[in-house]
Amino acid sequence: MEAAGKEEISVEDEAVDKDSFRDCSKIAFYRRQKQQLSKNSTYRALLDSVTIGRESTTFQIINEATKHPLLAEVYGIERNIIRLKINEETPLKPRYEVSDVLVGKLSTVRLISCSGDTESLILSDGKGDLKCHITANPFKIDLVSEKEVIMSINSLGQLYFEHLQIPEKQRTTKENEKSTSIDTSQEDQEDLGLWEEKFGNFLDVKANGPASIGLDFSLHGFEHVYGIPQHAESHQLKNTRDGDAYRLYNLDVYGYQIHDKMGIYGSVPYLLAHKLDRTIGIFWLNASETLVEINTEPAAEYTLTQVGPAAAKQKVRSRTDVHWISESGIIDVFLLTGPTPSDIFKQYSCLTGTQVMPPLFSLGYHQCRWNYEDEQDVRAVDAGFDDHDIPYDVMWLDIEHTEGKRYFTWDKKRFPNPKRMQELLRSKKRKLVVISDPHIKVDPDYSVYTKAKEQGFFVRTCEGGDFEGVCWPGLSSYLDFTNPKVREWYSGLFAFPAYQGSTDILFIWNDMNEPSVFRGPEQTMQKNAIHHGNWEHRELHNIYGYYQQMATAEGLIQRSKGKERPFVLSRSFFAGSQKYGAVWTGDNTAEWSYLKISIPMLLTLSITGISFCGADVGGFIGNPEAELLVRWYQAGAYQPFFRGHASMNTKRREPWLFGKEYTQLIREAIRERYTLLPYLYSLFYQAHVASEPVMRPLWIEFPNEVETFGIEDEYMLGSALLVHPVTEPKATMVDVFLPGSNEIWYDPKTSACWEGGCTMKIPVALDTVPVFQRGGSVVPIKTTVGKSTGWMADAPYRLRVALSTKGSAVGELYLDDGHSFRYLHQRQFLHRKLSFCSSVLTNSCADKSGHFPSKCVVEQILVLGLRKEPSSVATHSSDGKAQPVAFVYCAGTSTLSLEKLSLNVDTDWEVRIQ
Ligand code: NOJ
Repeated sequence: MEAAGKEEISVEDEAVDKDSFRDCSKIAFYRRQKQQLSKNSTYRALLDSVTIGRESTTFQIINEATKHPLLAEVYGIERNIIRLKINEETPLKPRYEVSDVLVGKLSTVRLISCSGDTESLILSDGKGDLKCHITANPFKIDLVSEKEVIMSINSLGQLYFEHLQIPEKQRTTKENEKSTSIDTSQEDQEDLGLWEEKFGNFLDVKANGPASIGLDFSLHGFEHVYGIPQHAESHQLKNTRDGDAYRLYNLDVYGYQIHDKMGIYGSVPYLLAHKLDRTIGIFWLNASETLVEINTEPAAEYTLTQVGPAAAKQKVRSRTDVHWISESGIIDVFLLTGPTPSDIFKQYSCLTGTQVMPPLFSLGYHQCRWNYEDEQDVRAVDAGFDDHDIPYDVMWLDIEHTEGKRYFTWDKKRFPNPKRMQELLRSKKRKLVVISDPHIKVDPDYSVYTKAKEQGFFVRTCEGGDFEGVCWPGLSSYLDFTNPKVREWYSGLFAFPAYQGSTDILFIWNDMNEPSVFRGPEQTMQKNAIHHGNWEHRELHNIYGYYQQMATAEGLIQRSKGKERPFVLSRSFFAGSQKYGAVWTGDNTAEWSYLKISIPMLLTLSITGISFCGADVGGFIGNPEAELLVRWYQAGAYQPFFRGHASMNTKRREPWLFGKEYTQLIREAIRERYTLLPYLYSLFYQAHVASEPVMRPLWIEFPNEVETFGIEDEYMLGSALLVHPVTEPKATMVDVFLPGSNEIWYDPKTSACWEGGCTMKIPVALDTVPVFQRGGSVVPIKTTVGKSTGWMADAPYRLRVALSTKGSAVGELYLDDGHSFRYLHQRQFLHRKLSFCSSVLTNSCADKSGHFPSKCVVEQILVLGLRKEPSSVATHSSDGKAQPVAFVYCAGTSTLSLEKLSLNVDTDWEVRIQ
């Protein structure tokens, strides 16, 4: 049979059919936990069983009703992190534990017992700042930091652990009596879905029976919680009391609904909570289907009428209860205690790694479409950018570029000479990205298929054969990326000799890796499919895509013999995916509401470690009107990953197809992005080395301002730029909140300035992108734009200095060769500090360990907010030579501008203003 192409697999522009996906009521382990927890069975910690070891403290916990014992382990981890693991003491067989997410061996801190008896135990880190108060009965842990109880664990008694059992058919009568940890006496077995669970026509037969787990966390004083992507939802998490829990289950949901808690392409089981003086985090390391319930009780003041004087009042602190429920695995949870947002980012990245340093080209603009039809089409689109003077860096090819969706091949008719095509792109200093999905066409003549089959590299069915499901190529098998041997082999497929027609300007896009299986339950793989190590798919579903991106990135590094940085975009992701590349928000729709929701979606990804993220510009499904497309380009230009993409049955929408006026607006937006690249690249360096997100919700930069905690229609790009994209049609005005009572904000285009701490009505026309520079910052930008980032390496810089109310400013500039690992291994980079203080702008070295010869000069300097007209301006080099420079001062706007300078970016100098 030839590929099941467009005929068989229809892609229609219609809303998602919610009935093909499960809500909580259709999830058996959720129903079970709800029922059983209402029966109030408690756990007791046996504190006379405590063993305090070098690495961890262990003790038993026992279920009072079933008497099943659990083993708890508490670890102190460097940087004020506590890890709590709970497993069955003697499980029937090992339970799945997520590996390959934590980076390296964690440095543990020995916890010491400060006091304890059989009723309670206090564990403390050496400094005594962080303590775990363990109460025996009912079992509870209070986490105390600097004398404040910040979190209680199991205070609501929702610890839940289903013990592995011998399947019914294999049990003796005796075993039958003691087998179940679940009270099934009156319950309908089928409804509980213990060994089998139906969804539509699908039957999930569970080899291990019920194995779910759950635990509650009460966060004291917190009413703002964030994180647990991916949902098309607000940045601040909502109460789930009256509806579905947030679901973490990686699914291919074409045209997903917005403001919905259903799981979409990726999962990061990491939640952050923030209040005025503290940020904390809970990282629930589990890769099976997970549900998160959130219940926030705001602070309240009660009048005590029964006792004491009628006026007596009692204050109740706000609290958020977070209930994690997973289908299987163990409880392995990391409690991050902050206290600042920046501490939290460092704590999380010391567990899961920081954002990989992207090659510079990948921060440029990407042009994608499903599909660019053939080489001629690619040439024409590429030329279109040049003809219209619009920079772009990367041309993308979707699935139709292959021979019948056989990845690593080329459709010979459409792309007869892929190398020639890449040479054309190379001549423009541009790149190519092609798609490579995890499903492999079942075809005895396709060598990727036959080799994988021979070596047993596919996911298997529970009967033992290769799993086969339908995806783009028709019947396909799925590579088992959880197997290190499969990853190694797959990485090898990217080697130049193996991947015919590929060159070193070709990079990779991993799509459909939830994995998407057409006609499978919820369009994914059966949970009882079998992976390496005999693990059921249910154990690791959410980490499947993570492993593909890992193998792909490794393949690209290897093909360059370890020299070049990879670029891999993945649709599916898990905690730690930031180590391997970028992610995007999948199949969004060309509607204003999707443009708007892209901001909170990206903010949530950003604070959970994944800085390199973006949304399809224009909306993947449907046809955006010109105004929406323009607004989307303007928004995308200030988001980390910037790619235009469109589905196959949409109208063509290259930037010049909407008439001159719109072409000009899109050109402006993209060119603006290119001028901003030095700043953006420096932010990525900070994300890479210091775990700071590139795109930041306002509350991160202004953690002491409650007004910022719920804001999601604007954000900070780094610490210097506030961006408020226009996301409404026909807007003539936007309300921009400028935070910080001691701050001052500048419009870099007009030099107008405002004091912080208020909402401004900013008039907007179609060419307005509301972006404000924070007083006290220096933003390095480029003065000219080229065809692509490669053309701009030597382009001069402009420093935009925005003075604080105190007349100072600081910023930085990072640069390196933009593509290799020499910044890391040979420390070939430049990291400069740019500071303005007492009327002197200084360029000094921020990191003496780095060296990188650069021909670049600072050509222009703009100082915003300079109150007094200078009498002279001079540059001073480090050898003491001074040179006066011409300047223009505008008293009306308080700006000083210096042009035609030639100050080397890599040497120390000062510009003195008198
Ligand atoms: C689904 C992806 O989300 C979309 O971006 C892509 O164009 C199609 N698959 C076809 O590969």
